[in-house]
This record gives sequence, structure tokens and C-alpha cells, in this order.
Amino acid sequence: MEQRQSSALTKKKSTPADVVVLFGATGDLAKKKLFPALYNMELTGGLNADVVGVASTRWDHKQFVDNAFEAIRTRVPNVDEAVLTRLDSKLDLVVGNYEDPQVYVDLAEKIKDKIKPVIYLAIPPILFEQVTAGLAKVGLTDRCRIVVEKPFGRDLESAIKLQESLEAVLPEIRLYRIDHYLGKESVEDILIFRFANSIWEPLWNRRYINSVQITMAEDFGIDGRGKFYDEVGAFRDVLQNHLLQVLALIAMEPPADLTSQFMEDEKIKVFRAIDTLTEKDIVRGQYVGYLDEDGVATNSKVETFAAAVVHVDNWRWAGVPFYMRTGKNLKETVLEVIIEFKQPPRLLFAETQAGSPNVLRFRLGKNDGVDIELMAKAPGDKLHTVPVQLNVEFSAALGDRQEAYERLLRAAMAGDHMRFTRIDSVLETWRILENVLHGGGEVYPYFKGTWGPEKVDELIPNGWIEL
Ligand code: BG6
Repeated sequence: MEQRQSSALTKKKSTPADVVVLFGATGDLAKKKLFPALYNMELTGGLNADVVGVASTRWDHKQFVDNAFEAIRTRVPNVDEAVLTRLDSKLDLVVGNYEDPQVYVDLAEKIKDKIKPVIYLAIPPILFEQVTAGLAKVGLTDRCRIVVEKPFGRDLESAIKLQESLEAVLPEIRLYRIDHYLGKESVEDILIFRFANSIWEPLWNRRYINSVQITMAEDFGIDGRGKFYDEVGAFRDVLQNHLLQVLALIAMEPPADLTSQFMEDEKIKVFRAIDTLTEKDIVRGQYVGYLDEDGVATNSKVETFAAAVVHVDNWRWAGVPFYMRTGKNLKETVLEVIIEFKQPPRLLFAETQAGSPNVLRFRLGKNDGVDIELMAKAPGDKLHTVPVQLNVEFSAALGDRQEAYERLLRAAMAGDHMRFTRIDSVLETWRILENVLHGGGEVYPYFKGTWGPEKVDELIPNGWIEL
């Protein structure tokens, strides 16, 4: 069957980037994610651009390259030295403080022959306005794309303000807001699972689904990022972006086609159907020992654990609770969505079947895959049930997949918005959290290595499902 043409939007081809500029080139994100991604792109022949780092650290060219390569060597197995040599020939550095106008003049001079720069702001969000204003002064915002990391703002008001300041220098169409979960192949698989398989659609609604549980748990702490984290907390760091994006993919209607505009149109309808949360819908926690971390205020009330129950109040989902939780220093590192189906209307095998609904699990983290828990006949004389699992391990079934940051960089360089968030949906997600962001509510302590404060059990009457 041919794919139908469903849109009057003109699908204009974007100019590919000919240079990637990395603000924060000596920072953590560059080291952990961006240089390994650039290496992989060079390896596979996809890096048809130079890379210019911008940093306030006074490194010379050699120090910059050595540090980038060390970051790559520690994170990429079996590094090919020939690829590093090719990458070396593409790397350059501009040094200067972001508040000094000279740094922008130097950058503009260095990339003056480039037609389509992609400028990646791997810097604290507080600097976005200053840096984009600096770029505008030297005319770079007339032709560049800008990539900004999440969180976009701190709340609804600051996100609106940030958007205004960015829009004053470049249009939305050249702005790429990162939520790296949208670059994960496992997360994109939710779309394929739902919309490329016809068997789920009849079940994907309030008639058959009892609850949806989304967990992003980490068994490690704030990894030396105390200063950053203490200004952010779990709601802003993960729930407002990663978890709500995953929720939208689970809950949205099929888009008319895969243009980023139609995708975002569907996601925003989900967000609009969610009421602004209040204190009774959430639980905050803080692990014991957080206050001793470097960079954390001694009396900090910042949450390292956040949980929420949200209702998507539309025809498909009314009455189905979506539970979300995220936290640092929890028992395990888990990223998953659990769909809990309703039990049959009459429990024929009630003796053993009660309390064992069918469950579908999307594993979205390193061990990505899908599991379905079904009832089977227990061995023996009696008609008793026992849960069994159908599992798919994507690594075994599908082989290697690309890293999220590599896919996002490629997309921004190609001018494809598909894996980035649009301002109206970002504002809706801030609106959902607006009433619970500004503190004041209880922050419950929890011990490292647990599933967070016990209080969270009150949010979810039947408990979190474990497979
Ligand atoms: C980041 C958060 O966005 O996502 C971190 O700032 C978190 O706090 C990280 O650890 C988790 O990403 P991933 O891809 O490992 O699930």
C-alpha cells in the first residue's frame, strides 16, 4: 500500500550543517555524550562538518583535542585511531568568557565561511540568554540553528521569558530543544509498537487498561553535579521532560503522518488533557546524605525523588491513572513503562488468578525490550493459573542501536525537528507542574538503596508492579 500524502505542509529540504559549534566544549556533557557521538558519526561517515569548541577553560588546541580523545577512549570500545586522526583535522577551539563580546567576534571570524552552523549550548541554562544575545550581536543567529539542553526554563514563567528572548534573535524553526529521551531508539519504539502493530489498538484505552506506571530510577546519586542539581531537583530534571514525553507517546493518538509538526500536535493534546497537579497528586523525597553532597545547600529542600499521579482526561483515558516516579540513589537503575490491563470481568480461576492482571512492560533503558505477562495453566491436576512471560530482548533481536545523542546531533545537523520538543508542548508540561514546583510542600527522607519514601505508596493504592 502506498503511503498517502496527508499534509499540505511544504516539506522543504533543509540545508545540512557544515559546522557544529559546541559551547561548553570542555564540560561534562561534551565529555560524556557529545564527543563520543561525534566520533561515531565520523566512524560511519556522517560527520560532514567541522567542529568548533567554545570554552572558558584556557586550553590550547592540543589540550582540547587530548581531552576530547580521552573522553572518547574511555567511553567507546575499540577506538579506531584512524578515525580519531580524521576527527582531529576537523576540531578547533575558541577560548573566552561567555560574558566577553570578544569570544563571539572570534567565533564569527572562525566560521565566517560556513553557511549553516549548528550551535549546541551544552552550558547551564542560566547562560542561554547571554550566549544567544552574544551570537546575535555578531550576526550568527541570522543563519545558525541553536540546540539547547533541557530543562527549558525553570517553570512556566521563566520558560516563556526564555522563549521570548530566543525568539527575539532567531525563529522557532531554527531552535532545537533537546530531550535526549526522544533520541532513544527504545523510546521511539513505543510509536512503532503502537502504530505498526494492529493488535494493540483495540485494547489501548480505558476499557482494557487499568493503569500505566512509568519509572525512571537510578541506583546512583548526583555524580558530582551538586550545584546544578540543587537548583533543579527531580521534577525539573526528569519528570517535566523525560517522563512526560514518554507518557505522551503512550497516550497520544496516531498522528496523520510522521512530520514533527503532526507528532507534536498529538502530544500537546495529551498534555492539554492533564490537569495542573496539586500537592495531593505528588510525593517528594530526598535521600539521606544529600545535604552532605558538594554544592548542595546545607538546608536544601530540593527533591531527589519525585512521584506523581496524573489523569489524561479524554475519551481514551478518562479514569486511568498514570503513575510516574523518578529518583536518585534508589534500589536499582530502571527505565520502564508498565501497562496494567484489567482482569477479565469474571475470574473463572479466581483461586489463583486474583490480583494477577496481564501486564505489558516496555523496557527502555540499557536492557531494552518488551515483556508480556500472561496467565498459563499451572502444571498439575487443578485448573490453576500461573503467570508466564513472553520476552523480547532488543539487543539480541535487533543488534546494536545508535546512541541518543548521536541521533539528536544528526537530526539537528540535518534540520529535522522530529526528535525535539516544540515550545507549546514544553509550556504545557511546565503548566502541569506549575503548582508543585515552588517548594513549600513536604519533602520525605528516604534511605539510599530503597524505592524512595514510603509515602509514595499512598499515591498508588495497589502498589507498583514488578515483573
Ligand atoms: C538527564 C538527567 O537528563 O538524564 C540526569 O539530567 C539523568 O540526572 C539522565 O541521570 C538519565 O539519562 P539516561 O539516558 O541514562 O536515562
